Amino acid sequence: MKQKISGFHLDGEGHWVAELECGHRQHMRHEPPWMARPWVLTEEGRRSRLGIELDCKRCDEAGLAVAEAVRKALVSAALEAYEDAGLSGLCAEGRWEFAMDAIRAARLTPSIQRALSHGHKGAAIESARLILRPLQLEDARAVQRLAGDREVAENAAGIPYPFEDGMAEAWISSLDARSHVFALCLPDSGEMIGAAGLVEAAEERPRTAELSYWLGRAYWGQGFGTEAAQALVRYGFETLGLESIHANCFSRNPGSRRVLEKAGFRHIGREEKALHHLGRDEDLERFILTRPS
Ligand SMILES: CC(C)(COP(=O)(O)OP(=O)(O)OC[C@H]1O[C@@H](n2cnc3c(N)ncnc32)[C@H](O)[C@@H]1OP(=O)(O)O)[C@@H](O)C(=O)NCCC(=O)NCCS
Repeated sequence: MKQKISGFHLDGEGHWVAELECGHRQHMRHEPPWMARPWVLTEEGRRSRLGIELDCKRCDEAGLAVAEAVRKALVSAALEAYEDAGLSGLCAEGRWEFAMDAIRAARLTPSIQRALSHGHKGAAIESARLILRPLQLEDARAVQRLAGDREVAENAAGIPYPFEDGMAEAWISSLDARSHVFALCLPDSGEMIGAAGLVEAAEERPRTAELSYWLGRAYWGQGFGTEAAQALVRYGFETLGLESIHANCFSRNPGSRRVLEKAGFRHIGREEKALHHLGRDEDLERFILTRPS
């Protein structure tokens, strides 16, 4: 599927990446003699490519994946209703009517979301009440709305306040291959309620990553923070193969401390005045979790 180039950014390794209108990205490396794209090195050259269409294979793949997911969801809804109606002793015609009703009423959003998540970097993670899907540029507005709340920002070292236009896009665009950052979504509505991630330390061996998380104010106190942290711990050890995960929280943030304790982290120390955030010095509590043997 053809998609227009809407912008460019540098990835964590200094290569230019074209941003497409669909939200997908494509590397535009200039690595002579294999790939000669001298235009990508100048601002003028990049500007001249804005609006040009590229083939977006990820859109094609996503379209097929969504079609297949919808087909499977409808078949399974119809078969289930047909079977249930059979148990009630209905004739074949009655059973098919039930099956058709089930198709009309089928909730397709979760299946579509899962299919789309697989089309982006990495797959989605499912926990009991959440879908954690890789964060995308399209999430920028939700990020700004949720993290732009002062109460959220003042508890998390990485969140600026005020959260100005463009900051969310810049943050999401800066996420590189070592950043496994997920939108926390409610499965039925697909609504994003926060974000959480593991950022691997560059070149560090044995492999380790830092865990962080935040939720929109309206979603605090319902166990979502704990659920997301636990899901990412499993993902970190089982999928990424990390040897350890570390995390920090402000000393005055008992909710975050408790999330870490409930996810199995061990307290390893306190650092006074470790950083300055939104106008005040903050003491930090440091935690670690090592890979279970
Ligand atoms: C920290 C945060 C992620 C916690 O998520 P949450 O979904 O509200 O937490 P949970 O509902 O899973 O609760 C976890 C535990 O913390 C406790 N807790 C939550 N908020 C608390 C508070 N303000 N004071 C004391 N304990 C608190 C809960 O009671 C629960 O413990 P329990 O099961 O022993 O009762 C959420 O409050 C948040 O996003 N805050 C703003 C950003 C932030 O602080 N991010 C972390 C940066 S390190």
